[in-house]
Parts: sequence; C-alpha cells; structure tokens
Amino acid sequence: MTYEAAADIGIGSKPSIAKTAVLERSAVIDLEAVRHNVRQFAGIASPANVMAVVKADAYGHGAVQVARAALEAGATWLGVAHISEALALRAAGLDAPMLAWLHTRESNFQAAVAAGIDVGVSGWELDAVVAAAREQERPARVHLKIDTGLGRNGCPIADWDQLVGQAMEYQDEGLLRVVGIFSHLAVADEPQRPETDQQLAVFREAIAIAEDAGVDTEVRHIANTPATLSRPDSHFDLVRVGLGIYGLSPFQGATSAELGLRPAMTVRTLVSNCKTVPEGQGVSYGLNYHTAGRTTLGLIPLGYADGVPRVATGGPIRVNGITYPVVGRIAMDQMVIDFGPLTPEQAADLKGAEAVMFGEGTDDGPTADDWGRAAGTINYEIVTRISPRVPRTYVNESAGGPAAGAESAAGSVRPSEAAAKAASL
Ligand SMILES: Cc1ncc(COP(=O)(O)O)c(C=O)c1O
Repeated sequence: MTYEAAADIGIGSKPSIAKTAVLERSAVIDLEAVRHNVRQFAGIASPANVMAVVKADAYGHGAVQVARAALEAGATWLGVAHISEALALRAAGLDAPMLAWLHTRESNFQAAVAAGIDVGVSGWELDAVVAAAREQERPARVHLKIDTGLGRNGCPIADWDQLVGQAMEYQDEGLLRVVGIFSHLAVADEPQRPETDQQLAVFREAIAIAEDAGVDTEVRHIANTPATLSRPDSHFDLVRVGLGIYGLSPFQGATSAELGLRPAMTVRTLVSNCKTVPEGQGVSYGLNYHTAGRTTLGLIPLGYADGVPRVATGGPIRVNGITYPVVGRIAMDQMVIDFGPLTPEQAADLKGAEAVMFGEGTDDGPTADDWGRAAGTINYEIVTRISPRVPRTYVNESAGGPAAGAESAAGSVRPSEAAAKAASL
C-alpha cells in the first residue's frame, strides 16, 4: 500500500485521522528493497540458508510485513529475541521455522512449544523448556547456544559438555529435539580484529564436542550481517541477517550501495512552517544557534518523540533536492533547519514541501548512516528507534510488482562483488 493509498483509509470523503497522520509524517518501507536485500544475502550465503532477523518490530520496519517479504525472497527462517515476538508472528499466520533466543523465567515456554517455536538455550532454560514440553505433550525444539567470546548469553565452553549431555538425555526421553547449535559474534563489523577467528575456533570446538556426544543438528549458525558479508568461513548452515535485510551497512568503511544493498526505510514529513527572521535570531531551546544574517527558518515536525535523537543537531534534512543541517536543539516534536535568505515567494513554496530525514541515499540524499554519525550512534539504532508516532506505510507490498526489476546503484553490485568489498575492509 502506498502512503497515498494508506491515507485513503477512513470514513466517507472526510479526511480521516489516519490520512492526516500518514501524510504529515511517515516511515515508508519499500518491501521490494527488503526482497532485493534478502536475495543479495541468499546469493552470498549459498549454500547456507538465510534467517531473517525481525526482532524489535524488524528494526522498526514492521515485523509481519518484513517477515513475509523476506520469506518470499528466499529467507527460510525467522529470528527474534523474545518468545512474545515469535508468537505475534505465528498469530499473523507466519509458519516458517522461527527461533527466539532471549528469555527470562517469565517467558512463555509453553506457548512457544505449542506454537512450534524454536528456543535458544544457554543453560537454565533447558529445564524450563522440558517442563513446557511435558505439559504440552510435545517435544520442544531447541538450539544450544555456546558463548564463544561475546560474554552475554550462551553456555561457557567449560560447561558445554554438561549442557549437551543433559540435552541429549532429554532428547532420548523424547522431550526435545536439538535442532541447532549457535553463537553470536562480537566484532564482525570490524573485520581486521582477531577475535572473530578466536570465536569461530571455539564454535568449531563446541560443534565437535556436541557431535561426539551424538548431537545431529539441522543447523549450525553464528554469522550476523557483517560476518555473512566478510567471512564465508562463518556461514555454516544458516546465517542470521538483520541489518542487511533493511539495506544498511554494518561497516564504517562501506556504504549500502557498495555492498549492493538498498535501504528500505524512508522517514519523511512536510515542512510545517517557513519564516523569515533577522540576523541574530536564537533558535530552539537553549538558544544555542543564532542566525548569521537575515534568513528563512524551516520548521520540521519531527522530534525525539518520533525517535530523532535529541543529540543529533547537525543531522541532515532534505527539502526540494537540497540537504540542510538541523540547527539548534532537537525538541520533543520538532526541529529547525536554516534555508538561508529566500524571497517571500520561495519561502511560501517551501511551506508544506516534503522533508526527508533519511532514505535510500540516492542523489546524495540523507541516510540513516548520516544520522548515526550526527548522534554518535549506529544506523541500527536510528531506524529501530523511529517511534510508533510515525505511521509505517508500505510500498511494493506484493512481489513482482512494477518496481521489482527497478535498477539502482545497489542493484548492479553482484553478491560476489559485495562479499569481495566486505572482505577487503
Ligand atoms: C543473536 C543475534 N543474531 C543475529 C542478529 C542480527 O545481527 P545483524 O543485525 O548485525 O545482522 C542479532 C542482532 O543483534 C542477534 O542478537
């Protein structure tokens, strides 16, 4: 659904609340870009399969819509952090293999077992999952997680044979099936660092221990987006790709386009006000910015309540093909750009013009990477934190639509070229 089409949701001919909200500001998600990115990763990872990581509402892009698009384009697994996220996908009719890996004692293991959701197990979860399997009279599907060096979840290597042994006893009793062995990398976004080699070595050791104990897994998996791109030796049977399917680069030294990826989210709004002010006008709370001369200020109705980082003064906003830095403090609902001196006619034209915070980045347009730099954070956080106040709308919802074959800079980079670029970083 285009945002114009989404805007038509409503009653009769009166503008609806949805229409107003969508036109005022929206995060437009291009599902053909998602499909393109998934195909790119499927090409890079082959013969390994792709798990589309759609936790955190698909990094802000909409979990159900992204999951469907990713599966259409060749992903065969879905991955989330929480069982509750997986249950929401099942409730929406997504029946692909699905893994949830972050739990507490309050996690609903029973519902997970009942819904055929695979559960990541680092230690204590094993007994909880088995209790749920007993209750449901159905074997649980588990992936044993080894901590290869990240120091978060995962079983320490010293305790690994005990966890594996216990899991195999439960498997022999018919209470579970060990479907996978997995781990997570700490520094794959910095390909020159040696720790990835060390983590892969521990992973191989853990697999060997498990295989000696009789574990016969369907999938061994450790690669995230940067490892999938830069480390073919990390692919094993399955790669877990999050950031990349949203078209964003995990590397400082490579853009999305250089990796053959298309950013899927565009955050846009309309210039809310445009007014001429004299030299020395202070702008926004704190009056940290003063105009250098008589100028025209543009008011952009997006602020930290919409997910714009408050610290990101200087972040780019694109209006009518020109990019302007945000001046003064970013407030809860709004921020300001300085258009420079304009005629009254020019200022009138800009009032109501479309303002893009970030998008695909074509023609030097602003990107989530730019906002990450402005905020001292990463592109992951920029897209994920776009708040629910910004309505999500979708373009190219069905596969094979008019834009399916659309060319872009990213479209001409083959998977092998993207992998070579990443490996050279
Ligand atoms: C366990 C796990 N696997 C895979 C991913 C996907 O990582 P990326 O977005 O870098 O592909 C994440 C995200 O943080 C994760 O927590």
